[in-house]
Amino acid sequence: MTIGVPKEIKIGETRVSMTPSLCRRCVSLGGRVLIQKSAGVTAGFTDAEYRAAGATLVSEAARVWRAADLILKVKEPLSSEYELLQEGQAIFTYLHLAAGPDLAKILIKKRILGISYETVEGRDGSFPLLKPMSQIAGRLSIQIGAYFLQSQHGGSGVLLGGIPGTMPGHVVVVGAGNSGAHAVQMAVGMGARVTVLDLDTRKLEALDTEYRGRVVTLMSNPANVESEVADADLLIGAVLIPAAKAPTVVSRKTVARMRPGSVIVDIAIDQGGCIESIRPTSHQHPVYAEHGVVHYAVPNMPALVGRTSTLGLTQATEPFVAMLVRRGVERALAEHEGLAMGVNTKGGRITYPAVAAALGYA
Ligand SMILES: NC(=O)c1ccc[n+]([C@@H]2O[C@H](COP(=O)([O-])OP(=O)(O)OC[C@H]3O[C@@H](n4cnc5c(N)ncnc54)[C@H](O)[C@@H]3O)[C@@H](O)[C@H]2O)c1
Repeated sequence: MTIGVPKEIKIGETRVSMTPSLCRRCVSLGGRVLIQKSAGVTAGFTDAEYRAAGATLVSEAARVWRAADLILKVKEPLSSEYELLQEGQAIFTYLHLAAGPDLAKILIKKRILGISYETVEGRDGSFPLLKPMSQIAGRLSIQIGAYFLQSQHGGSGVLLGGIPGTMPGHVVVVGAGNSGAHAVQMAVGMGARVTVLDLDTRKLEALDTEYRGRVVTLMSNPANVESEVADADLLIGAVLIPAAKAPTVVSRKTVARMRPGSVIVDIAIDQGGCIESIRPTSHQHPVYAEHGVVHYAVPNMPALVGRTSTLGLTQATEPFVAMLVRRGVERALAEHEGLAMGVNTKGGRITYPAVAAALGYA
């Protein structure tokens, strides 16, 4: 099997889908690795390291796409990559199709076997390939929020931790899953006042036990969301309904009640965002102001820390990539139910029900 690793081209992307160590593993399992030159440089891996691990390096992305049985990527193919997708090819990457109708059309048209990192399931129903990036995005959301709260960056000038004698900043986290819990951890670490809301009482109980009252946990209902968000200096959107478009949890009207210069970081933007006034931004232009509130919604936040993110992502993908190489794609999918849950498109159809429903194919 030939595994193709193209260089990521999304704005500001720094991750790579394969480390030299994973490359060595694939080669030892009988795979041939074709990697685009300098694909790993922004994550701190040189071409020489890949060569030493047994990879073949090529200059043009087109050569990687053309020769590969399996394309291994980080982000979804962008429109300039659509023509590079080969009829019937397999691709293993984040696809986020619920928020990408155009990509879905191409995958259907070209009968691509699209295996989505974000819907691969662990035995306990968790999403092991989403988890590390959510943890990173959750942790980053607080440092990003703190940065944009600074006066010179358009913020209200609130220091999250305050100082003795002043009120610390109020961080409100909507969603207490992987990204939300890590946002809470960082916000507590910075000395902020923290409120977290979720629909799942078990998640709230776990945080309540962990922080022993240091964090306020609230059921996510319109009344609680409205009153907490209106008082937030920093609002973090961290909800997920697996594979579906994110629900709108915070209305535009509520955002308009926030103090001027407050900041929103909507981590859930890759699934469409959970704040009504949000739209995607990029690493080049990460924020915009609406209702006097700073909005940040970069869909590939982990690219800010390419080294940590690449190591976190590939340590999670490695067992699945190894399975695909060792057994071949079809057999690996037949033998591993959790990996098979990653299949979003196959044979010209959307096969994942929540994605099909979100895109109106159901
Ligand atoms: N922007 C980025 O760079 C980036 C990076 C990683 C992950 N993400 C995204 O972040 C989002 C969250 O991922 P996660 O791994 O934390 O998900 P998760 O499943 O671990 O947690 C999501 C939480 O949202 C809760 N929830 C659902 N509906 C809710 C509602 N109406 N109100 C309050 N809570 C609600 C769920 O109960 C759950 O606890 C996903 O869309 C994911 O793709 C984005």
